[in-house]
Amino acid sequence: MVQKKTLHDINPKNKHVLIRVDFNVPIIDGEVGDDTRILSALPTIKYLLKEQAAIILCSHLGRPNGEPNPKYSLRLEGDHLVNLLKMPIAFAENCIGAEAVNATQSLKPGQILLLENTRFHAGETKNNPEMAKKLAALADIFVNDAFGSVHRAHASTVGVASLIPSVAGLSLEEEIKYLKNTLGNPDKPFVTILGGAKISDKIGVIQNLLKKADTIMIGGGMANTFFKSQGYPIGDSLVEDQALNTARDLVINAGSKLRLPIDLVIADKFEPNATSKTIPSGPIPNGWRILDIGPETVAQYMKVIQNAKTVVWNGPMGVFEFPAFSKGTVGIAQAVAESEALTIVGGGESVAAVKQSGLTEKISHISTGGGAFLKVLEGSTLPGVAALQDL
Ligand code: 3PG
Repeated sequence: MVQKKTLHDINPKNKHVLIRVDFNVPIIDGEVGDDTRILSALPTIKYLLKEQAAIILCSHLGRPNGEPNPKYSLRLEGDHLVNLLKMPIAFAENCIGAEAVNATQSLKPGQILLLENTRFHAGETKNNPEMAKKLAALADIFVNDAFGSVHRAHASTVGVASLIPSVAGLSLEEEIKYLKNTLGNPDKPFVTILGGAKISDKIGVIQNLLKKADTIMIGGGMANTFFKSQGYPIGDSLVEDQALNTARDLVINAGSKLRLPIDLVIADKFEPNATSKTIPSGPIPNGWRILDIGPETVAQYMKVIQNAKTVVWNGPMGVFEFPAFSKGTVGIAQAVAESEALTIVGGGESVAAVKQSGLTEKISHISTGGGAFLKVLEGSTLPGVAALQDL
Protein backbone atom coordinates (compact mmCIF):
# COMPACT_ATOMS: atom_id res chain seq x y z
CA MET A 1 0.00 0.00 0.00
CA VAL A 2 1.19 3.54 -0.77
CA GLN A 3 2.29 5.26 2.42
CA LYS A 4 0.46 8.48 3.20
CA LYS A 5 1.66 11.67 4.83
CA THR A 6 0.78 12.05 8.49
CA LEU A 7 0.84 14.75 11.16
CA HIS A 8 4.60 14.32 11.40
CA ASP A 9 5.00 15.59 7.84
CA ILE A 10 3.43 19.01 8.42
CA ASN A 11 4.28 22.17 10.32
CA PRO A 12 0.93 23.23 11.75
CA LYS A 13 2.18 26.11 13.95
CA ASN A 14 -0.06 29.16 13.57
CA LYS A 15 -1.92 27.45 10.71
CA HIS A 16 -5.63 26.81 10.40
CA VAL A 17 -6.02 23.03 10.35
CA LEU A 18 -9.31 21.41 9.31
CA ILE A 19 -9.70 17.98 10.92
CA ARG A 20 -12.33 15.60 9.53
CA VAL A 21 -13.41 13.58 12.54
CA ASP A 22 -16.11 10.90 12.72
CA PHE A 23 -18.46 12.11 15.44
CA ASN A 24 -21.24 9.90 14.03
CA VAL A 25 -21.89 8.38 17.45
CA PRO A 26 -25.05 6.81 18.89
CA ILE A 27 -27.29 9.33 20.69
CA ILE A 28 -29.36 7.73 23.44
CA ASP A 29 -31.95 9.79 25.36
CA GLY A 30 -30.34 13.04 24.25
CA GLU A 31 -26.84 12.01 25.34
CA VAL A 32 -23.79 10.62 23.59
CA GLY A 33 -24.30 6.86 24.01
CA ASP A 34 -20.81 5.62 23.16
CA ASP A 35 -18.00 8.14 22.85
CA THR A 36 -15.34 5.79 21.43
CA ARG A 37 -15.13 7.76 18.19
CA ILE A 38 -14.86 11.10 20.01
CA LEU A 39 -12.14 9.69 22.26
CA SER A 40 -10.27 8.41 19.22
CA ALA A 41 -9.96 11.97 17.88
CA LEU A 42 -8.38 13.32 21.08
CA PRO A 43 -4.72 12.42 20.36
CA THR A 44 -4.78 14.35 17.07
CA ILE A 45 -6.62 17.30 18.59
CA LYS A 46 -4.21 17.44 21.56
CA TYR A 47 -1.16 17.11 19.30
CA LEU A 48 -2.33 20.03 17.15
CA LEU A 49 -3.20 22.11 20.21
CA LYS A 50 0.32 21.59 21.51
CA GLU A 51 1.72 22.57 18.12
CA GLN A 52 -0.24 25.84 18.33
CA ALA A 53 -2.56 25.23 15.40
CA ALA A 54 -6.01 26.83 15.12
CA ILE A 55 -8.24 23.74 14.97
CA ILE A 56 -11.43 23.44 12.93
CA LEU A 57 -13.37 20.20 13.37
CA CYS A 58 -15.92 18.87 10.90
CA SER A 59 -18.00 15.70 10.82
CA HIS A 60 -21.27 14.20 9.71
CA LEU A 61 -23.89 12.80 12.09
CA GLY A 62 -26.61 10.45 10.88
CA ARG A 63 -28.28 10.77 7.50
CA PRO A 64 -30.18 14.08 7.45
CA ASN A 65 -30.71 13.96 3.66
CA GLY A 66 -28.84 17.13 2.75
CA GLU A 67 -30.79 19.60 4.84
CA PRO A 68 -30.49 21.11 8.32
CA ASN A 69 -32.28 19.08 10.99
CA PRO A 70 -31.80 19.85 14.71
CA LYS A 71 -32.06 16.12 15.47
CA TYR A 72 -28.68 15.68 13.80
CA SER A 73 -26.92 18.75 15.20
CA LEU A 74 -23.34 18.24 16.39
CA ARG A 75 -23.86 20.51 19.41
CA LEU A 76 -24.16 17.53 21.78
CA GLU A 77 -20.84 16.15 20.54
CA GLY A 78 -19.36 19.63 20.99
CA ASP A 79 -20.53 19.74 24.63
CA HIS A 80 -19.10 16.27 25.16
CA LEU A 81 -15.77 17.40 23.76
CA VAL A 82 -15.76 20.46 26.03
CA ASN A 83 -16.07 18.09 29.01
CA LEU A 84 -13.33 15.81 27.74
CA LEU A 85 -10.84 18.57 26.88
CA LYS A 86 -11.90 20.91 29.68
CA MET A 87 -11.66 23.95 27.44
CA PRO A 88 -14.16 26.11 25.55
CA ILE A 89 -14.96 25.14 21.97
CA ALA A 90 -16.56 27.56 19.50
CA PHE A 91 -19.45 26.30 17.37
CA ALA A 92 -20.52 27.44 13.89
CA GLU A 93 -24.14 26.72 12.92
CA ASN A 94 -23.11 26.06 9.33
CA CYS A 95 -20.03 24.22 8.10
CA ILE A 96 -19.63 26.53 5.08
CA GLY A 97 -20.67 30.08 4.17
CA ALA A 98 -20.32 33.38 6.02
CA GLU A 99 -20.80 31.93 9.49
CA ALA A 100 -18.04 29.36 9.07
CA VAL A 101 -15.73 31.90 7.40
CA ASN A 102 -16.21 34.48 10.19
CA ALA A 103 -15.74 31.88 12.92
CA THR A 104 -12.52 30.57 11.37
CA GLN A 105 -11.15 34.07 10.80
CA SER A 106 -11.46 34.91 14.48
CA LEU A 107 -10.02 31.54 15.56
CA LYS A 108 -6.56 31.85 17.18
CA PRO A 109 -3.79 29.26 17.52
CA GLY A 110 -4.58 26.92 20.42
CA GLN A 111 -8.35 27.37 19.98
CA ILE A 112 -10.96 24.93 18.63
CA LEU A 113 -14.00 25.50 16.45
CA LEU A 114 -16.57 22.77 15.71
CA LEU A 115 -18.54 23.14 12.48
CA GLU A 116 -22.16 21.95 12.19
CA ASN A 117 -22.99 18.63 10.47
CA THR A 118 -21.52 18.48 6.95
CA ARG A 119 -24.54 16.44 5.79
CA PHE A 120 -26.81 19.46 6.29
CA HIS A 121 -25.69 20.19 2.69
CA ALA A 122 -26.61 17.89 -0.19
CA GLY A 123 -23.17 18.60 -1.70
CA GLU A 124 -21.46 16.60 1.05
CA THR A 125 -22.50 13.10 0.01
CA LYS A 126 -22.31 14.06 -3.70
CA ASN A 127 -18.70 15.18 -3.23
CA ASN A 128 -19.76 18.47 -4.81
CA PRO A 129 -16.66 20.46 -5.90
CA GLU A 130 -18.15 23.80 -4.74
CA MET A 131 -18.76 22.44 -1.26
CA ALA A 132 -15.25 20.97 -1.15
CA LYS A 133 -13.83 24.35 -2.24
CA LYS A 134 -15.72 26.16 0.52
CA LEU A 135 -14.48 23.73 3.16
CA ALA A 136 -10.91 23.93 1.87
CA ALA A 137 -11.04 27.76 1.93
CA LEU A 138 -11.42 27.62 5.73
CA ALA A 139 -7.99 26.08 6.36
CA ASP A 140 -4.34 25.81 5.32
CA ILE A 141 -4.04 22.08 6.00
CA PHE A 142 -6.52 19.16 5.98
CA VAL A 143 -6.18 16.25 8.41
CA ASN A 144 -8.40 13.22 7.98
CA ASP A 145 -8.81 11.41 11.31
CA ALA A 146 -12.18 9.84 10.54
CA PHE A 147 -11.47 6.19 9.82
CA GLY A 148 -15.20 5.41 10.14
CA SER A 149 -15.88 7.61 7.09
CA VAL A 150 -12.97 6.86 4.74
CA HIS A 151 -15.07 4.47 2.68
CA ARG A 152 -17.24 7.44 1.68
CA ALA A 153 -16.10 9.64 -1.22
CA HIS A 154 -17.69 12.81 0.13
CA ALA A 155 -16.79 16.52 -0.01
CA SER A 156 -15.37 16.50 3.53
CA THR A 157 -13.36 13.30 3.05
CA VAL A 158 -12.20 13.23 -0.60
CA GLY A 159 -13.12 16.57 -2.23
CA VAL A 160 -11.35 18.81 0.26
CA ALA A 161 -8.27 16.57 0.35
CA SER A 162 -7.32 17.36 -3.25
CA LEU A 163 -7.43 21.12 -2.69
CA ILE A 164 -5.06 21.76 0.25
CA PRO A 165 -2.16 19.77 1.77
CA SER A 166 -3.82 16.73 3.32
CA VAL A 167 -2.51 14.14 5.76
CA ALA A 168 -3.71 11.31 8.02
CA GLY A 169 -4.39 12.00 11.71
CA LEU A 170 -3.07 9.76 14.49
CA SER A 171 -6.19 7.61 14.81
CA LEU A 172 -6.42 7.05 11.06
CA GLU A 173 -2.70 6.26 10.96
CA GLU A 174 -3.17 3.64 13.69
CA GLU A 175 -6.16 2.08 11.92
CA ILE A 176 -4.24 1.88 8.64
CA LYS A 177 -1.26 0.33 10.42
CA TYR A 178 -3.35 -2.47 11.91
CA LEU A 179 -5.94 -3.02 9.24
CA LYS A 180 -4.14 -2.44 5.98
CA ASN A 181 -0.54 -3.28 6.81
CA THR A 182 -1.11 -6.15 9.26
CA LEU A 183 -3.95 -7.74 7.36
CA GLY A 184 -2.00 -7.37 4.12
CA ASN A 185 0.48 -9.88 5.49
CA PRO A 186 -1.01 -11.55 8.56
CA ASP A 187 0.92 -13.93 10.78
CA LYS A 188 -0.57 -17.42 10.39
CA PRO A 189 -2.74 -19.10 11.48
CA PHE A 190 -5.02 -16.21 10.61
CA VAL A 191 -8.55 -16.78 11.86
CA THR A 192 -11.64 -14.64 11.55
CA ILE A 193 -14.95 -14.71 13.34
CA LEU A 194 -17.86 -13.20 11.45
CA GLY A 195 -21.33 -12.62 12.83
CA GLY A 196 -24.22 -10.22 12.52
CA ALA A 197 -27.63 -10.53 11.01
CA LYS A 198 -26.97 -10.40 7.31
CA ILE A 199 -24.83 -12.47 5.02
CA SER A 200 -25.52 -10.04 2.15
CA ASP A 201 -23.38 -7.34 3.85
CA LYS A 202 -20.47 -9.72 4.12
CA ILE A 203 -20.32 -11.71 0.89
CA GLY A 204 -17.34 -9.66 -0.39
CA VAL A 205 -15.68 -9.99 3.02
CA ILE A 206 -16.00 -13.78 3.07
CA GLN A 207 -14.83 -14.07 -0.55
CA ASN A 208 -11.73 -11.98 0.17
CA LEU A 209 -11.00 -13.69 3.49
CA LEU A 210 -11.22 -17.11 1.88
CA LYS A 211 -8.03 -16.14 0.00
CA LYS A 212 -6.20 -15.05 3.15
CA ALA A 213 -7.58 -16.65 6.29
CA ASP A 214 -6.96 -20.19 7.51
CA THR A 215 -10.33 -20.44 9.24
CA ILE A 216 -13.54 -18.40 9.05
CA MET A 217 -15.96 -19.05 11.89
CA ILE A 218 -19.56 -17.97 11.42
CA GLY A 219 -22.18 -17.01 14.00
CA GLY A 220 -25.16 -14.68 14.36
CA GLY A 221 -28.17 -14.44 12.06
CA MET A 222 -26.02 -14.97 8.97
CA ALA A 223 -25.41 -18.59 10.03
CA ASN A 224 -29.14 -19.24 9.53
CA THR A 225 -28.89 -18.50 5.81
CA PHE A 226 -25.95 -20.91 5.56
CA PHE A 227 -27.98 -23.59 7.37
CA LYS A 228 -31.00 -23.11 5.12
CA SER A 229 -28.74 -23.25 2.05
CA GLN A 230 -27.67 -26.70 3.26
CA GLY A 231 -31.29 -27.82 3.24
CA TYR A 232 -32.06 -27.62 6.99
CA PRO A 233 -35.42 -26.24 8.06
CA ILE A 234 -34.66 -23.23 10.27
CA GLY A 235 -38.10 -22.72 11.84
CA ASP A 236 -38.92 -19.03 12.30
CA SER A 237 -35.29 -17.89 12.25
CA LEU A 238 -34.23 -14.75 10.42
CA VAL A 239 -33.07 -15.65 6.91
CA GLU A 240 -32.10 -13.97 3.66
CA ASP A 241 -33.72 -16.12 1.00
CA GLN A 242 -32.21 -14.08 -1.83
CA ALA A 243 -28.72 -15.01 -0.58
CA LEU A 244 -29.26 -18.79 -0.42
CA ASN A 245 -27.43 -19.57 -3.68
CA THR A 246 -24.49 -17.38 -2.71
CA ALA A 247 -24.34 -19.03 0.71
CA ARG A 248 -24.34 -22.48 -0.92
CA ASP A 249 -21.51 -21.47 -3.31
CA LEU A 250 -19.46 -19.99 -0.46
CA VAL A 251 -19.73 -23.24 1.53
CA ILE A 252 -18.62 -25.27 -1.51
CA ASN A 253 -15.67 -22.95 -2.30
CA ALA A 254 -14.57 -22.67 1.31
CA GLY A 255 -14.38 -26.38 2.10
CA SER A 256 -13.13 -26.95 5.64
CA LYS A 257 -12.03 -23.31 6.06
CA LEU A 258 -15.58 -22.22 6.84
CA ARG A 259 -17.01 -23.35 10.19
CA LEU A 260 -20.66 -23.13 11.10
CA PRO A 261 -22.02 -23.42 14.67
CA ILE A 262 -22.30 -27.01 15.95
CA ASP A 263 -24.94 -26.16 18.54
CA LEU A 264 -27.51 -23.43 18.89
CA VAL A 265 -29.68 -21.63 21.43
CA ILE A 266 -33.22 -21.47 20.12
CA ALA A 267 -36.23 -19.59 21.51
CA ASP A 268 -39.99 -19.74 21.13
CA LYS A 269 -40.25 -15.94 20.70
CA PHE A 270 -38.04 -13.01 19.73
CA GLU A 271 -38.18 -11.63 23.25
CA PRO A 272 -35.70 -11.19 26.11
CA ASN A 273 -37.66 -13.59 28.34
CA ALA A 274 -38.56 -16.19 25.72
CA THR A 275 -38.40 -19.88 26.60
CA SER A 276 -35.11 -21.19 25.26
CA LYS A 277 -33.18 -24.41 24.82
CA THR A 278 -29.79 -25.49 23.49
CA ILE A 279 -29.79 -28.06 20.70
CA PRO A 280 -27.21 -29.54 18.30
CA SER A 281 -27.21 -27.82 14.88
CA GLY A 282 -29.82 -29.39 12.64
CA PRO A 283 -33.49 -28.91 11.78
CA ILE A 284 -35.19 -26.22 13.89
CA PRO A 285 -38.80 -26.94 14.86
CA ASN A 286 -41.54 -24.65 13.55
CA GLY A 287 -42.32 -21.81 15.93
CA TRP A 288 -38.71 -21.68 17.17
CA ARG A 289 -35.87 -19.42 16.06
CA ILE A 290 -32.07 -19.39 16.44
CA LEU A 291 -30.99 -16.57 18.75
CA ASP A 292 -27.42 -17.53 19.73
CA ILE A 293 -24.61 -20.00 19.18
CA GLY A 294 -24.37 -22.74 21.81
CA PRO A 295 -21.63 -23.50 24.39
CA GLU A 296 -20.08 -26.33 22.31
CA THR A 297 -19.60 -23.90 19.44
CA VAL A 298 -18.02 -21.31 21.75
CA ALA A 299 -15.64 -24.02 23.05
CA GLN A 300 -14.74 -25.14 19.51
CA TYR A 301 -14.21 -21.59 18.23
CA MET A 302 -12.17 -20.81 21.37
CA LYS A 303 -9.73 -23.66 20.55
CA VAL A 304 -9.19 -22.29 17.05
CA ILE A 305 -8.65 -18.79 18.48
CA GLN A 306 -6.14 -20.14 21.04
CA ASN A 307 -3.96 -21.55 18.24
CA ALA A 308 -4.11 -18.45 16.05
CA LYS A 309 -1.42 -15.80 15.48
CA THR A 310 -3.83 -13.23 14.02
CA VAL A 311 -7.52 -12.93 14.94
CA VAL A 312 -10.10 -10.61 13.40
CA TRP A 313 -13.64 -10.44 14.75
CA ASN A 314 -16.65 -8.60 13.36
CA GLY A 315 -20.29 -9.05 14.29
CA PRO A 316 -22.23 -10.52 17.23
CA MET A 317 -22.85 -14.27 17.55
CA GLY A 318 -26.48 -13.88 18.62
CA VAL A 319 -29.06 -11.39 19.85
CA PHE A 320 -26.55 -9.71 22.08
CA GLU A 321 -28.98 -7.05 23.33
CA PHE A 322 -31.02 -9.77 25.13
CA PRO A 323 -28.85 -10.99 28.07
CA ALA A 324 -30.22 -14.56 27.74
CA PHE A 325 -28.87 -14.71 24.18
CA SER A 326 -25.59 -12.82 24.67
CA LYS A 327 -23.48 -15.73 25.97
CA GLY A 328 -22.10 -16.67 22.56
CA THR A 329 -20.95 -13.12 21.85
CA VAL A 330 -19.53 -12.65 25.34
CA GLY A 331 -17.78 -16.05 25.12
CA ILE A 332 -16.12 -15.04 21.86
CA ALA A 333 -15.15 -11.65 23.35
CA GLN A 334 -13.44 -13.52 26.20
CA ALA A 335 -11.70 -15.96 23.88
CA VAL A 336 -10.38 -13.14 21.69
CA ALA A 337 -9.23 -11.18 24.75
CA GLU A 338 -7.39 -14.19 26.21
CA SER A 339 -5.65 -14.99 22.92
CA GLU A 340 -1.90 -14.39 22.61
CA ALA A 341 -2.43 -13.50 18.94
CA LEU A 342 -2.62 -10.05 17.42
CA THR A 343 -6.33 -9.35 17.85
CA ILE A 344 -8.48 -6.88 15.95
CA VAL A 345 -12.16 -6.23 16.70
CA GLY A 346 -14.44 -3.99 14.64
CA GLY A 347 -18.15 -3.30 14.29
CA GLY A 348 -20.51 -1.71 16.84
CA GLU A 349 -21.86 -4.77 18.66
CA SER A 350 -18.63 -6.78 18.83
CA VAL A 351 -16.85 -3.70 20.18
CA ALA A 352 -19.72 -3.14 22.65
CA ALA A 353 -19.40 -6.77 23.83
CA VAL A 354 -15.68 -6.31 24.44
CA LYS A 355 -16.31 -3.08 26.35
CA GLN A 356 -19.18 -4.39 28.45
CA SER A 357 -17.04 -7.37 29.42
CA GLY A 358 -14.26 -4.98 30.52
CA LEU A 359 -11.85 -6.51 28.01
CA THR A 360 -10.89 -3.46 25.92
CA GLU A 361 -7.31 -3.34 27.19
CA LYS A 362 -6.74 -6.94 26.17
CA ILE A 363 -7.45 -6.41 22.47
CA SER A 364 -4.53 -5.34 20.26
CA HIS A 365 -6.68 -2.99 18.20
CA ILE A 366 -10.31 -1.91 18.43
CA SER A 367 -11.41 -0.34 15.17
CA THR A 368 -13.69 2.71 15.11
CA GLY A 369 -15.00 1.70 11.69
CA GLY A 370 -18.27 -0.01 10.85
CA GLY A 371 -18.70 0.04 7.06
CA ALA A 372 -15.07 1.14 6.63
CA PHE A 373 -13.86 -1.89 8.62
CA LEU A 374 -15.85 -4.23 6.34
CA LYS A 375 -14.42 -2.48 3.26
CA VAL A 376 -10.91 -3.21 4.52
CA LEU A 377 -11.82 -6.87 5.11
CA GLU A 378 -13.25 -6.95 1.58
CA GLY A 379 -9.91 -5.71 0.24
CA SER A 380 -11.53 -2.57 -1.24
CA THR A 381 -9.80 0.77 -1.70
CA LEU A 382 -10.71 3.43 0.84
CA PRO A 383 -11.29 6.67 -1.12
CA GLY A 384 -10.71 8.91 1.91
CA VAL A 385 -7.26 7.39 2.42
CA ALA A 386 -6.40 7.30 -1.29
CA ALA A 387 -7.12 11.07 -1.49
CA LEU A 388 -4.43 11.97 1.06
CA GLN A 389 -0.95 13.02 -0.03
CA ASP A 390 1.54 10.24 -0.71
CA LEU A 391 4.67 10.19 1.40
C1 3PG B 1 -20.37 4.84 10.13
O1 3PG B 1 -21.05 4.97 11.15
O2 3PG B 1 -20.10 3.72 9.66
C2 3PG B 1 -19.78 6.06 9.50
O3 3PG B 1 -19.87 7.17 10.31
C3 3PG B 1 -20.39 6.31 8.14
O4 3PG B 1 -21.75 6.61 8.26
P1 3PG B 1 -22.70 6.37 7.02
O5 3PG B 1 -22.88 4.89 6.85
O6 3PG B 1 -23.99 7.10 7.32
O7 3PG B 1 -22.01 6.97 5.80
